[in-house]
Amino acid sequence: MLKPSVTKFVEESYRIEEEAANSALFTTGNGYIGVRGSFEEYGSIRIQGAYIRGVFDEIIEVMEPFADNEYMKKYYIDEEKLRNFEYQDSVINNVDFLLLRFSIDGETFYTWEGKILSWERYIDMTNETLVRKVRWENTKGDVTDFEFERFSSFANDHVYCLKVKVTPVNHSKKIEVMSGIDTRVKTGGQKITTVISGKVWENKAFAHVNMGKKYGFETGTTTVTNLYGAEAAWKDNSENGVLSSAAEFTAEQGKTYEVEKCVYISSSREEDVSQPVILEKRYAEYFDEHMAEYKKVFELADIAIEGDELADSGVRFANYHSIISASRNDSVHSIAAKGLTGERYNDFVWWDCEIYQLPIFIHIAPEAAKHALMYRYNCLKKAKENAKAAGFSGAKYAFCSSVEGDERVWEYARHPFMQIHINADIAWGIINYVTVTGDKEFLKDYGMEMLVELCEYWRSRVEEVNGRYEILRVTGTDEHHPYVNNDAYTNYLVKYVLEKTTEYAKTFGMDNDYSDIAEKLYQPLDKCGLIPQFDGYFGLSRTLEEAGGSAATGFQMKKSGLYHKSQVIKQPDVMLIYSYLNMKPENANYALNWDYYEKMCESSSSLSFAPHSICAADNGRILSAYNYLIETAYIDVYDIHKCSWQGVHSGCLVGAWYAVFRGFAGIVCREDCIEVNPHQVPWWDKVSFSFMYKGSKISVTMTPCEYTLKTDSEEEIDVIFKGERKSLCAKSEICEAL
Ligand code: BGC
Repeated sequence: MLKPSVTKFVEESYRIEEEAANSALFTTGNGYIGVRGSFEEYGSIRIQGAYIRGVFDEIIEVMEPFADNEYMKKYYIDEEKLRNFEYQDSVINNVDFLLLRFSIDGETFYTWEGKILSWERYIDMTNETLVRKVRWENTKGDVTDFEFERFSSFANDHVYCLKVKVTPVNHSKKIEVMSGIDTRVKTGGQKITTVISGKVWENKAFAHVNMGKKYGFETGTTTVTNLYGAEAAWKDNSENGVLSSAAEFTAEQGKTYEVEKCVYISSSREEDVSQPVILEKRYAEYFDEHMAEYKKVFELADIAIEGDELADSGVRFANYHSIISASRNDSVHSIAAKGLTGERYNDFVWWDCEIYQLPIFIHIAPEAAKHALMYRYNCLKKAKENAKAAGFSGAKYAFCSSVEGDERVWEYARHPFMQIHINADIAWGIINYVTVTGDKEFLKDYGMEMLVELCEYWRSRVEEVNGRYEILRVTGTDEHHPYVNNDAYTNYLVKYVLEKTTEYAKTFGMDNDYSDIAEKLYQPLDKCGLIPQFDGYFGLSRTLEEAGGSAATGFQMKKSGLYHKSQVIKQPDVMLIYSYLNMKPENANYALNWDYYEKMCESSSSLSFAPHSICAADNGRILSAYNYLIETAYIDVYDIHKCSWQGVHSGCLVGAWYAVFRGFAGIVCREDCIEVNPHQVPWWDKVSFSFMYKGSKISVTMTPCEYTLKTDSEEEIDVIFKGERKSLCAKSEICEAL
């Protein structure tokens, strides 16, 4: 398991059983590209991977459907569709440009050859660099030190750089360096790509590749490799799909040689890729340019927690993964459930994006948040077609969104189709973005159009039952209960969206008015203040009866249980209303609901931990809140769900920032003020971080005795601190005793 520290997460020895999971954890990237922590000399199956945002095509998806009981067989899987199912959209693995191999006196350094005498590998979160230091002995007893380093540039999305220092420790043997591009990559185990043209000349290689037939996207990748410290001529040694050249020299014992490889990668989704682009500068220059940008992004995302190294490191590591998951420069694609760290979930955009991932970007990188919403805007046309095809008005967004926005959810899996809350989630994302950034231009130019289409969908989707509107036959956020009526999360959020859209419409002089539906839309609530997750929920069994028992379900369902007869849930639904949606439903009792639903939640979706941390903090259960924060930040380091190798849980990791911001620091940005209700962890000496509110930077520090908010804003900001209104004057600070 990786060892956490304040700036690095370290793998202290090479363990083959951890290689695949650590490959996801050690991803370097810039939101445009994600390069898994595979080894330069090549690893084994499941590991090599470099994904470009939005470069999708079709793969044959080999399914492993499971049904532990008759109910699941009937309601989760459409057997007929399953028989027909074959192709699925997926991000496609680009060529392997990491390829950099060293042979010492004819023996190539691989983890499985010779002897590894020492090993240290780490991700440095402060500079987005993956470092590997290895002392290796070949079978002849020649010992060589390697120090690998690489990063993906934040200054130029298309630049990826590698550097290796090689030092012969006890020998002066021949060293051969081999570098270039391996085009034999696979996606989901299949060869999808074809080389349109490829060439090798001197120390350079270029591959122009077709990424699949369905969309016909192409990529162009050019590598330039230089050797410093020795004179050597580069000779083409390409063979069998590998475009490479090699240079050989006789090394001097104790002397350090350096190899630098600078790579330019782009796709036809943004430019012509048919010609090589040669990077002329040295690694150090690219690194400096990268750092100038990365530092800004990192610092704004950073949260420092003094007095608690575990939390401090974990949140920083989680933040690292968040900032490399989102494209900062365009809207070609949006933020995926596993970022760009693996192939599982195909790089689709889910509801995770607007509800879980956007909140951090809205506060620390508003431009990236806007790009994510513009991706939805670009999919509006398809969303309208989706609604029409289903017999409704307006727009219906895909639950799993790919290149164009048509529904890509696995068509034989019945229940996700019912997760129409996606249509309220996207509306919420727009409203949340506008509330925190104050970007009314976006609202006017794009947001309103989407909101109106979404509300038109809801107008046609609600049904009048005994004088009130209800939303029937849905799956809420909790996937253990498909086909329910009046899911709480959906009904509460839809009402809010209808009201807010009506309010916005008025300010633009538009006559779209959804208040009649909003008013009559049923808001589930029991007399005692508990919110039933859906109609009939409290009548279900409070335990989980087991049936079937293939145990093939793994983390998705903890048991072979009859979930539909039970109140046991997979992930929060009602508790999202309080935590991520920041609502305070009238007459409902927060503490009562939290106490109830926490016990019913199985947390077999990682999307449970951060909302739980917030709810526990809000309700004064600090130890619980803290433990949930640790699970949020360490979900993949501890491999809690045993599937980290497939890619990290981005929607969960991003919650580490939000749990500190919203849960412990207690901040909610409203349209006209910032609400603050802190919840302290007794052993935290100081928490400090910054966030953006309406174009201004607000810096926060929380110590056991004081809470300080400082702004660079030109305007006064209202702060409601523990219920009391205060003024945060222009370019000043307020400091409140705790
Ligand atoms: C969760 C969904 C989520 C998806 C992608 C599923 O296991 O139940 O809520 O959208 O994973 O993260």
